[in-house]
Amino acid sequence: MFLILNGPNLNLLGKREPGIYGSGTLEDLERQCEEWGAELGVSVTCHQSNFEGQLLEWVQQAAGQGFTGIVMNPGALTHYSYALRDAVAGQSLPVVEVHISNVDAREEFRHKSVTAAVCRGKISGLGWAGYRFALEFLSELITP
Ligand code: DQA
Repeated sequence: MFLILNGPNLNLLGKREPGIYGSGTLEDLERQCEEWGAELGVSVTCHQSNFEGQLLEWVQQAAGQGFTGIVMNPGALTHYSYALRDAVAGQSLPVVEVHISNVDAREEFRHKSVTAAVCRGKISGLGWAGYRFALEFLSELITP
């Protein structure tokens, strides 16, 4: 049972800078992730919030709610949220950080992730496929 968390501004997928983030909506992405989960035989729950504190609570509560892994796209919080970093570090589940765009090929402030170091790994620049690869990785991790 995996949790997919999308952070600030990802509710605007489809409208927001489509040249960078594509034309599909958040709803499309979440439906796609649920389908990928079904193919892998795992259930997937998706949440998005523009609020840092809400994301922290989802991360903090995930293990207690029975989730076994988290796929997280923290949006811009990636680059400065020590609180999100501490929330990830302070819980037990494997977390994979995903970015739709190639953050290393963009503005310099996006090159730094304060959260990646406490995640199992990071996938960046592969579009929505990053979420799929993260789900595949987590599935293999729990059923080797
Ligand atoms: C993003 C990259 C971040 O730099 C940006 O602030 C986002 C989306 C991505 O998915 O490419 O909101 O995380």
